Amino acid sequence: MTTTLITGANKGLGFETARRLVAAGQTVYVGSRDLQRGRRAAERLGARMVRIDVTDDASVAAAVKAVEADGGLDVLVNNAGVEARSPDGGVIGAEEVTAEAMRTVFETNVFGVVRVTHAFLPLLQRSANPVVVNVSSGLASLTRVTDPDTPAHAYPGVAYPASKAAVNMITVQYAKAFPRMRINAVEPGYTATDLNRHTGTQTVEEGAEIIVRMAQTGPDGPTGGYFDVMGRLPW
Ligand SMILES: NC(=O)c1ccc[n+]([C@@H]2O[C@H](COP(=O)([O-])OP(=O)(O)OC[C@H]3O[C@@H](n4cnc5c(N)ncnc54)[C@H](OP(=O)(O)O)[C@@H]3O)[C@@H](O)[C@H]2O)c1
Repeated sequence: MTTTLITGANKGLGFETARRLVAAGQTVYVGSRDLQRGRRAAERLGARMVRIDVTDDASVAAAVKAVEADGGLDVLVNNAGVEARSPDGGVIGAEEVTAEAMRTVFETNVFGVVRVTHAFLPLLQRSANPVVVNVSSGLASLTRVTDPDTPAHAYPGVAYPASKAAVNMITVQYAKAFPRMRINAVEPGYTATDLNRHTGTQTVEEGAEIIVRMAQTGPDGPTGGYFDVMGRLPW
């Protein structure tokens, strides 16, 4: 039986990923920084729930203890993420972005991924088929962001794409360091969730597809890659 933890799974892509993996027969932990939101989501899904705020060392350490006590972990989906927006809801571009805004986004999207992965490594290393899925973004692709023929080129934000580019690098370096694990970055595609005020053009069912697929990667599957639902993406 495969046991999977998804951070930020109380809603959006994480919730849908949890739903699909429960349906596939996995034991799934809905990770949620808020106890009530997490409990409600886990009840709806028939999943377990663990409180985890990826920006908080003590919260992550407590989550490791709880998951370890209940039997360990095979798959970690680093899904929790935030975007930097101004009070009027607009994306913060190069003119307005500050070090503080960058730090806030990196605290969740980058340091959160490292904090959680580092803390769960001992449990993952005990698994027969350890898997890590880092939920990145198409906006992490330097190739795309610099190509005027792609939609990514028009995106003005700085903090969010920089954070996801860092996630891609983290993915590659961890994959090389832990060759027995399958560690990949995925781009769900532009999906209607709270993150983008539901402006995304895909449904969560469509967006979660590549996350679900990579979470189920076997020992012969890829590692150190960057994928969307169509295949490999350019870095
Ligand atoms: N939607 C898209 O178009 C799109 C495209 C590419 C990549 N992504 C990525 O997909 C992932 C999921 O995003 P989404 O679109 O599903 O957004 P969402 O609906 O806003 O969900 C984000 C989740 O992350 C959680 N979260 C935020 N900060 C957290 C923290 N410090 N600790 C723990 N959980 C935290 C949120 O919890 P709360 O409910 O407590 O806030 C929520 O559960 C993100 O990494 C995002 O960057 C999304």
